[in-house]
Amino acid sequence: MTLSLPTSELDIVIFGGAGDLSFRKLLPALYMAHLHERLPASARIIAVGRQPWSREQYLDFIGARSPQFIEAPSFDAVSWDGFVQRLHYVSLDVTDAAAYAALQALGLSAVQRVFYLATAPGLFTGICAHLDAAGLLDAHSRVVLEKPLGTDLASAQAINTEVARHFREEQIYRIDHYLGKETVQNLMVLRFGNAMFEPLWRAPFIKSVQITVAETVGVGSRAGFYDGAGALRDMVQNHLLQLLCIVAMEQPISLDADDVRDEKLKVLRSLRKMDLADIRRDTVRGQYGEGVADGQSAQSYQQEEGVAPGSRTETFVALRAHINNARWANVPFFLRTGKRMAKRHSQIIIEFAEQPFSIFGAGPKHQPNRLIITLQPEESIHLGLMVKEPGSGMNLHPVKLELDLQSSSDKRRAEAYERLLIDVIKGRLTHFMRRDELEAAWRWIEPILDGWQALDDKPRPYAAGSWGPAASSALMARENLSWFEET
Ligand code: BG6
Repeated sequence: MTLSLPTSELDIVIFGGAGDLSFRKLLPALYMAHLHERLPASARIIAVGRQPWSREQYLDFIGARSPQFIEAPSFDAVSWDGFVQRLHYVSLDVTDAAAYAALQALGLSAVQRVFYLATAPGLFTGICAHLDAAGLLDAHSRVVLEKPLGTDLASAQAINTEVARHFREEQIYRIDHYLGKETVQNLMVLRFGNAMFEPLWRAPFIKSVQITVAETVGVGSRAGFYDGAGALRDMVQNHLLQLLCIVAMEQPISLDADDVRDEKLKVLRSLRKMDLADIRRDTVRGQYGEGVADGQSAQSYQQEEGVAPGSRTETFVALRAHINNARWANVPFFLRTGKRMAKRHSQIIIEFAEQPFSIFGAGPKHQPNRLIITLQPEESIHLGLMVKEPGSGMNLHPVKLELDLQSSSDKRRAEAYERLLIDVIKGRLTHFMRRDELEAAWRWIEPILDGWQALDDKPRPYAAGSWGPAASSALMARENLSWFEET
């Protein structure tokens, strides 16, 4: 077999190379890495897909799609042309062992190989086995596993066990792109790089924590996957629990991957398991109906293409979690996520305890201090404080101490996928999930899924463009709290 390409310093092989994730996120991220000279000059990107395309057909396909996902000032046709020189396309049926000869024929890099599995998780183990059998793995190869890694604990364990036959744990990068977001990484610096927060970062000084990831988009073209998954598996099991871990973990002894992951694991293992009574009281499932989202009329989930008639899949979840340790004793963590909500808005709210005693008497109500960490659409950190209202008297007035992260530095802020891909290339595992972490998250989530089934829980309807079902506000109101929805 002829080696049609010269040996490179790095090959990134993307399985699912023509899929949604590839053209929306991975190729734009790699383009940015190329533009900013973060890829070795000879690095190649090899997209693997089922479609029987030539390289030119593949380039036409992504050329018509990816550029719109690259921010305007960064995209230019000349750089794009330079970028696509790195791109190759291999058409193969990933379930056919013999087909991997097409990858062998490329003479993969002897220096570094990254295999990015952006396919359905059901294909992960077969791909790893076929790569191994075809002699395409070496001791330095790395594999990136996209979420969702399984649909429950058993399937996640099965994938992990099979992948471990072909890769050592330190070669495996389980990606959760929320861990690549600038503000999420910044949260660790905020907590552990500032002396003022740590003494207060616990019960009883913190009264509650809210984590909201609200999207305005609907299920789009992903009903095939989403209708069998739902918001708890798609968002809570991974993104929201990872955010909770970073808020709640103890200070790791270093930033080394295992030190950070050990601390996150402890949080996941300390989450109080829910029984049926807890599930009935402390979880809310919702499904969007018709409405207006992003200023346009939106159809209901049931009307979306590919959704099973009468589907009970939740597109919204709100729940109240507890961490069984001294730091977080009796501090509720409220998690909420949904599609077709009022705003695209991801925030972490740390609500501090009220002043135990006020010398200011009647007048405007004393508001509790809140630390508001906004992940998107803009990145910012606000601290809500009380000041004196100007004028005579000693009236209180709430203000925000604002930190606009966008304008706090001239340095370019890379998107999550670019940052994480560079971490893979550099062998930095800190912002990826370890096997035990992922399985601990499933161990906590699975009883909720089972409980919903046992309770025959139907999702509550909510109008597209709203903040979710009324029961979600009731969950907070029970404790005299409310969801924070300001931007
Ligand atoms: C993905 C989910 O992991 O995250 C999607 O599968 C969701 O359903 C997406 O839309 C949200 O990511 P972001 O970065 O846009 O908040």
